[in-house]
Amino acid sequence: MGFFHQEKNVKEYIKMAEGYDGRELIAELQKHLPESSSILEIGMGPGVDLTLLKKHYKVTGSDYSKIFIDRYQKQNPDEDLLVLDAITLKTNRKFQGLYSNKVLMHLTREDLKQSIKRQAEILEPEGIICHAFWHGDREENFDGLLFIYYTEEQLRILFEGSFDIIKMETYKEMEPDDSLFLIARKRI
Ligand SMILES: C[S@@+](CC[C@H](N)C(=O)[O-])C[C@H]1O[C@@H](n2cnc3c(N)ncnc32)[C@H](O)[C@@H]1O
Repeated sequence: MGFFHQEKNVKEYIKMAEGYDGRELIAELQKHLPESSSILEIGMGPGVDLTLLKKHYKVTGSDYSKIFIDRYQKQNPDEDLLVLDAITLKTNRKFQGLYSNKVLMHLTREDLKQSIKRQAEILEPEGIICHAFWHGDREENFDGLLFIYYTEEQLRILFEGSFDIIKMETYKEMEPDDSLFLIARKRI
């Protein structure tokens, strides 16, 4: 069973992540994705960022862990939520934006390539992606949960095939430059 498919890990993660959110990332996204656009959050977890995104966009939340989905749905019964794996993104719907915050770095490098291809397919023409990663050049495995740290150059190579990169910058989540975000537009 995957890490986030276990109730105890979900509970621990929620406690550990308390006080962190993607408000600065969302402020960057707002410079490039117009207000009221449709957006899918990939790997919404407890839904902290989803709640912030809702103030500006027509949001759909998703995660591959039904535990997170059920938890948020219980508190927000009318929310538009999907159980989706970031690798396959099995949906017929299309979105103007895709957002993830420290999710895609749990995928293997090969799976991330597949995800990027699918992301381009489920985006409307000229759709915008906004993703955050841990910054660096190493891999860790914590209790079966993979963490791949990326450099700007590595992300450029991965995304450039399908996207025009608008902005890529390091930022501080816990320590200076420990994180990296990327905003890009689907190439026509
Ligand atoms: C750092 S949390 C995201 C927190 C979220 N941004 C928030 O505001 O609370 C990472 C999330 O990625 C999800 N995740 C990891 N691998 C995934 C995959 N392959 N597909 C979909 N979600 C995945 C986990 O279930 C977890 O909820």
